[in-house]
Amino acid sequence: MDELVRGLSKSQQAELAEDHGSNPSTGPTMGDVVAQRYNRRDLLKGLLAVPAIGAVSALAIETVERANAQAMNTSTTPSFNFTEIPAASQERDQVAEGYDADVLMRWGDPVLPGAPAFDPRNQTAAAQAMQFGYNNDYIGYFPIEGSSEHGLLAINHEYTNEELMFPGLGRQDTRTVAFRGMTKALADIEMMAHGGSVIEIRKTNGKWAVVPNSRYARRITAETPMEITGPARGHARMRTSYDPTGTLVRGMLNNCAGGRTPWGTWLTCEENVNGYFWGDMPESHPEFRNYRRMGIPGRWYNWGTYYDRFDVTKEPNEANRFGWTVEIDPFDPTFVPKKRTAMGRFKHEGAAGIVSGTGHYVIYQGDDERFDYVYRFVSRNRVTGNRAQDQHLLEDGTLSVARYDADGTVHWLPLVFGQGPLTAANGFQSQADVMIETRRASDLLGATRMDRPEDIDANFRTQRIYVMLTNNNRRTAEQVNPANPRADNRFGHIVEMIPPGDDHTAATFRWDILVRCGDPSVAGVGATFHPNTTRDGWFGMPDNCAIDGQGRLWIATDGNSPSRTGRADGLWALETHGQARATSKLFYRCPAGAELCGPEFVPDDTSLFVGNQHPGEADEENPNAQPTTFETATTRWPDFRPDMPPRPSIVAITKRGGGKIA
Ligand code: FEO
Ligand code: CA
Ligand code: CA
Repeated sequence: MDELVRGLSKSQQAELAEDHGSNPSTGPTMGDVVAQRYNRRDLLKGLLAVPAIGAVSALAIETVERANAQAMNTSTTPSFNFTEIPAASQERDQVAEGYDADVLMRWGDPVLPGAPAFDPRNQTAAAQAMQFGYNNDYIGYFPIEGSSEHGLLAINHEYTNEELMFPGLGRQDTRTVAFRGMTKALADIEMMAHGGSVIEIRKTNGKWAVVPNSRYARRITAETPMEITGPARGHARMRTSYDPTGTLVRGMLNNCAGGRTPWGTWLTCEENVNGYFWGDMPESHPEFRNYRRMGIPGRWYNWGTYYDRFDVTKEPNEANRFGWTVEIDPFDPTFVPKKRTAMGRFKHEGAAGIVSGTGHYVIYQGDDERFDYVYRFVSRNRVTGNRAQDQHLLEDGTLSVARYDADGTVHWLPLVFGQGPLTAANGFQSQADVMIETRRASDLLGATRMDRPEDIDANFRTQRIYVMLTNNNRRTAEQVNPANPRADNRFGHIVEMIPPGDDHTAATFRWDILVRCGDPSVAGVGATFHPNTTRDGWFGMPDNCAIDGQGRLWIATDGNSPSRTGRADGLWALETHGQARATSKLFYRCPAGAELCGPEFVPDDTSLFVGNQHPGEADEENPNAQPTTFETATTRWPDFRPDMPPRPSIVAITKRGGGKIA
């Protein structure tokens, strides 16, 4: 169908967005190889050339051998005890045999007391503000009294798909339909469907349910008042006509993944905030360079036509107040969320925290854009165990950016005003400037440009850190580096970082590649899964991840589809140690069109929560795919009612009869 009619989904707009400093690929690409693969699968099997670069250093190999020698698992059989499910794409989701995957919470279900029942044909902003929001991404489980059967879930609502939410609307964007179907009433619903939810849940007779009218229940939206903390608090570049103090902001936007702190707070990370801003910023404007580096204004939403604060022409500083990590106490529904500017401003994916052996709190974060960076925040003060005191730890600390060297060393380069190039000569007058323009500061430090850093997790057992690099179809052969070894990297890879002992504050770590993703049976892809990985067991596009109670790694994906990888997204268990290292097994598969978010285990591993985001989207690289709308979605999961759209939902996975997952 004509693109003018078809329009662009929000994820397509993200794909098309300009990445500054990137070069277009030339020559035959991995994409060509793969397109052939999934069009003429059998014909081409095994006949392709091997252009992928094998730039793993001798030291990195030595690291692997040492890890293998020390491994807990000397068997080539992975430690994950479940029967793998088939890789496929179907209208329904599927979990491994012997497990139940029960829908716990859907878009539109009541969160706050008095919320009206979900009625998609008569939705209002007032109703949405009390109901579960759209596109659930991060899921954090906060136990009540240590329980694995009673706790809070804090959930991010990252963005909205207007074409799937609103009957008769279709896709809306600047390039094609000029938002002509949008109204202020619809924009208001979208704003209330963003943010986050806190719900109380309890497991009774083996089944999870939401506790109605909970005193913890909370909705956070694009309007919730928040406080700005840290070096950029009160800075002139943070002041607007609404907030001349530069300390208060309304709402959080595009909150993707997140994290939990040991003092029981929820970290929720603003990612593609550029898309919400509208208007024009002339090249002569002092914020032009800053905003261009973040892709602002992105114009993916037309809220700026109704609200001046989303129009950079009218309110040029508002966009500096987004792109931060937000800390929230989920146990206190009156808590004013805190934007933590000491952790930098970029397209934060998530926040993987760990207490260093030194006592400092350390958070690893990815900046999800092609050619952007991996960061580490080290708190200035040590964790005390006193909750009230520790709630201030993220106000002050040192942010560093990663440089991955060919000898297997990671160098953490501190982003500190006055050090190296971060001076007035380059336009930085203070630490606030360095944090507001974290990306430009990192460019100047010579950080390693990565293949879209998504989620990161720090393994509390082994101290190793896993970085999901989801893909980068714009990296050319000239741009490969040891930590990003494939040109036209369609399927992504996972980087492992190894601190010296348990010191996460050290200036240098070791690094290695755990696995290069994609179909191992296509030589040109250059995937490096363990040979015992089955045809169902490999995956592409790692996005979210989790470490279970045994210290094992689980990977949720975003971007697999019949046309790209011959499979839907899902949850794979991936061995990290021993002879079975890099063996992967498929545990749960999303309904059609969805990506998998979460995942989150309860402390004793007897339950696992996952989120299906944007079920019903089209397989966008299939040229024959019909555009999907409320009416024509590829699935109507989870209700399967003709009058109900597909609904992003949280799923609780438990073992039938009880017991630990896998
Ligand atoms: Fe929102 Fe980087 O995924
Ligand atoms: Ca993500
Ligand atoms: Ca994602």
